[in-house]
Amino acid sequence: MKLETEMWDIHVGTPHPFNNRSPKIDNGTDRPDHDRDFAREEWDKVFAKSWLIACPVADVAEPGDLFRFDIGDESFIIVRDDDDVIRAHYNVCPHRGSRLVLADFSTLSGFTCPFHSWKFDLDGKNSEVTDENTFQPEVLCHDRDLTSVRCETAAGLVFISMNPDVMPLDEYLGPLKAQLELYQIDDMYVVQHRQSEWGANWKGGVDAFAETYHLHAVHPQTQCLMDDRTQIDLYPNGMSRQFVPFAQPSRRYDDQETVNDGIKMMLSDAGIDPEDFDGSAQETRRAVQLAKRKRSDDLGLNYERFSDTQLSDSTVYSVFPNAQIGCHPEAVSCTGSCPMLRIRTASPMTR
Ligand code: FES
Repeated sequence: MKLETEMWDIHVGTPHPFNNRSPKIDNGTDRPDHDRDFAREEWDKVFAKSWLIACPVADVAEPGDLFRFDIGDESFIIVRDDDDVIRAHYNVCPHRGSRLVLADFSTLSGFTCPFHSWKFDLDGKNSEVTDENTFQPEVLCHDRDLTSVRCETAAGLVFISMNPDVMPLDEYLGPLKAQLELYQIDDMYVVQHRQSEWGANWKGGVDAFAETYHLHAVHPQTQCLMDDRTQIDLYPNGMSRQFVPFAQPSRRYDDQETVNDGIKMMLSDAGIDPEDFDGSAQETRRAVQLAKRKRSDDLGLNYERFSDTQLSDSTVYSVFPNAQIGCHPEAVSCTGSCPMLRIRTASPMTR
């Protein structure tokens, strides 16, 4: 036990503040399955049944703003309607199934189908059928409106679910909701959207974004300024939280004393002139925490809501089934790994 505690110390003799871990949750030890039949089951039993992060609220800030959220074979229109309600509609015309919205983002007063020009209000109601008098009434007696799915917001993020009986979003997120709210994501805007396509099962993306085990091999340049020994706390409903210590060298890094260029950058970012800093790399993480506390006091940033660790480190939340949110007081980065397989990030978001 003593050995385990020492392994997770920030530095020798400096215990990690989160050594008091949450209770262990046993999620089993079976190897994940990646075959196509299993992937189809995952779509039906996981993606079609869960809450999914669609976009930040900032992407649909004003009435008429919309974001096209594609996942798997499905496409959704996330839109803020004229009553200021954020809605999610299947991006499918009820006439012959054409995609309604092709743009990634837009601001519209309503939707016009590109195939035969039927029109729909932002709330999904059909407002016009082209040449309606040429249709037999029986043909049009079916529902002409767009089909909508569950859509709610929490912690500045828009969640949708294809499952009308999905559990309440608050219950689904559990303790993550209050922790994510600390970062006030609803006050942030997206600096950059990126999308990449991987020839891999979606779980490969989720796993890669949820672990730092690969850093020394894939991103060795990070070893001078961040630690890859992290703590991951598991929560109900497949959620988790990870702390990644920043502003200090990895224990794998040979030089534990010199304030290297990577750490100097982090000192500068926290408002410390690296040329005036006379401590060692063992002390830089704490210096960053103190500098950010001072900045908060000077500028009224209200960082009292954050622990010291949250000031310096990356706090990474995994939101089941497919999203990770890397949180810092100044900015967050959202990543979603989707079947088919697109990795979509809103990164970073900042104030
Ligand atoms: S498919 Fe949309 S109007 Fe015909």
